[in-house]
Amino acid sequence: MNIPTVDLTDLSSNDPARVERGAAALREAFGVFGLVYVKNHGVDAQALARYYDAFGEFVARPLEAKRPYGRADIWYQRGWTPPNTEVAVASNGQPDFKECYFAAPYPTDESSALEFPHIYPENVWPSDAPPYFQEGLLTLGRSLHEAGLQLLRGAAVALGLPETTFTDACQRGPHVTRALQYLPLGPSQVNTGILWGEEHTDFNLLTLLPGGRFLDPQGQPSKSGPDDKSGLYLRTRATPEDPKGQMVRGTAPAGCIVAQVGQQLEILTGGTFLATPHVITAPGVPGWQRQSAAHFMHVHTSTVLFPLSKFRTPEAIQNYAPPVLAGTYDIKTLVDIGLAPTSALDQLGYRHYDRLNRMRAGA
Ligand SMILES: [Fe+2]
Repeated sequence: MNIPTVDLTDLSSNDPARVERGAAALREAFGVFGLVYVKNHGVDAQALARYYDAFGEFVARPLEAKRPYGRADIWYQRGWTPPNTEVAVASNGQPDFKECYFAAPYPTDESSALEFPHIYPENVWPSDAPPYFQEGLLTLGRSLHEAGLQLLRGAAVALGLPETTFTDACQRGPHVTRALQYLPLGPSQVNTGILWGEEHTDFNLLTLLPGGRFLDPQGQPSKSGPDDKSGLYLRTRATPEDPKGQMVRGTAPAGCIVAQVGQQLEILTGGTFLATPHVITAPGVPGWQRQSAAHFMHVHTSTVLFPLSKFRTPEAIQNYAPPVLAGTYDIKTLVDIGLAPTSALDQLGYRHYDRLNRMRAGA
């Protein structure tokens, strides 16, 4: 199992041979595995550890202190996600054992927010946040986003598309950075099949994972971790010999981060790149937690999600029809995973039938 590593300095090089080397790595990584290891990514490991300290301090607060930042009214797209809220689509209704914090690393685009207010809300910050809580999440999000833009340019080159195909679609998009803390299992919960995060694919374009860390039962960061079975696993593409794919540990080589393909990139490429299924398994011993972070890059809400003309084979059309506006797709997914109410779907058709009723009643 040899997941390629791409060097971002290859992708940004003026030397065509180096650019092609990077593009070839991406072609194989995204085409075969759905993920790539990234080196020279610009994410500061010390700053990340400092941010995890701040985030852990917030999570350790009593539920009542965090509740004002858990905003069902904006579908939890900013601020705190309470435990047992989000559900993976394929999980039979079991919510994930996690608490999260969401922030957009760049200012919200005002005209997009008028169209999709729940997808582009303003950031929400605790009034008495631990030091480095806000700056740490924004700094992390921006450095992951910059790395992601380079990967997306490389991915376009790898597919023979104009270099800015995906980065243009991303402009002013609802990108969001998320810190996650997977909660400790009690002695009666371990080894009962409970997962920290059910297996799923991400619904966005590209996800960047800077790497997480375990907290021991005393809440202290631990390099070794509770056991060898807990953490992030990614499932590789099915092959005739290997129809279930292979589960690969999502731990990147030292100094690297991970980038994985989301549903939007799968749809635009007609399945040439496949969204990566991934699962976060819980430890077999009680009391341990895990902290991690992810930056979700999205196409802009006005992008039509359908295979690009180059990939529009009859098979791809069948697999990804009908074309759907990305903002609409976002709403549907947020309902599916339990963050938005089902009434959000009522907004997708005509909403003014009552006017005719009122007129007929002469009101
Ligand atoms: Fe995910």
